[in-house]
Amino acid sequence: MTVREAYDLTGRSAVVTGAGSGIGRSSALLLAEAGASVLCADVNDAAAKATAETIGDAGGRAVSAMVDVTDRSDVDRLVASAVDTFGALDVMCNIAGIMHENAEIVDTTDETLERVLSVNLKGVFYGCRAAARVMVGQGSGSIVNMASGAVDVPAPGIGPYAIAKAGVAQLTKTLAMEVAKQGVRVNAVAPGFIITGMTARHWTNADGTLDPDREQATRTGFGRMSPLGRVGEPDDIGHAVLYLASDASSFMTGQILRPNGGVAMPW
Ligand SMILES: NC(=O)c1ccc[n+]([C@@H]2O[C@H](COP(=O)([O-])OP(=O)(O)OC[C@H]3O[C@@H](n4cnc5c(N)ncnc54)[C@H](O)[C@@H]3O)[C@@H](O)[C@H]2O)c1
Repeated sequence: MTVREAYDLTGRSAVVTGAGSGIGRSSALLLAEAGASVLCADVNDAAAKATAETIGDAGGRAVSAMVDVTDRSDVDRLVASAVDTFGALDVMCNIAGIMHENAEIVDTTDETLERVLSVNLKGVFYGCRAAARVMVGQGSGSIVNMASGAVDVPAPGIGPYAIAKAGVAQLTKTLAMEVAKQGVRVNAVAPGFIITGMTARHWTNADGTLDPDREQATRTGFGRMSPLGRVGEPDDIGHAVLYLASDASSFMTGQILRPNGGVAMPW
């Protein structure tokens, strides 16, 4: 297989949740650039549409859907609609996720715990289950889940988020074992600190305006934690997603890929 063939997704179809912003948007754009037809899904309908339009403007093929990943029937419909539209589902990227207000576990409310587990863990579970049902039937497919560097480095104040992401890692490994024989691969990505809408809370003022000085301070502060001396950009993760989606990673399953600037180096 040539490099071009290994990364070529021509004729393949992909669903990307969280496609309206940040890592999901980058992943959708890169999968499309590699030739995939992409269904861009997000709870923010306008943002999902904008990503699909950007792909279309660049000569790619994409449609969009408004989906709340906490609603299992929404997710089932999303996967069914990809199959209806494209004839198959080759790649499922479960990327939608949220952060919560900083609170140590003793101060975490039931509402926060429920909300974060619903989006970040149950949402990924629903996406995995719906996609795996289709892919097992096809005898092929690649599922890519978004975990986080939080699974490697416990940080005070983000307990529910970290717990949900650890669940995503274990979900990835368990499902990988269950569907490998049917030709379906399941992997996860555990990014370090990436500049996106999620991390912009570090430099967003109470009135919603952005503070460029705080953004620079955040980039410098988090960048110092990495041996590479910088924070990540969405495409740093989008390229990892593309690798796991493509035949370039055909011997990879049940793995947690860590584009994190070297912040954590587990065995
Ligand atoms: N940014 C980082 O530093 C970082 C690090 C590690 C992991 N991650 C993970 O990467 C993923 C993408 O995050 P991001 O940083 O690009 O954030 P982002 O806020 O830029 O994008 C998240 C997207 O998910 C969508 N979304 C939220 N709830 C949803 C729901 N219920 N249903 C459907 N869509 C929903 C949002 O509308 C948004 O478009 C998340 O799972 C996040 O936990 C991010």
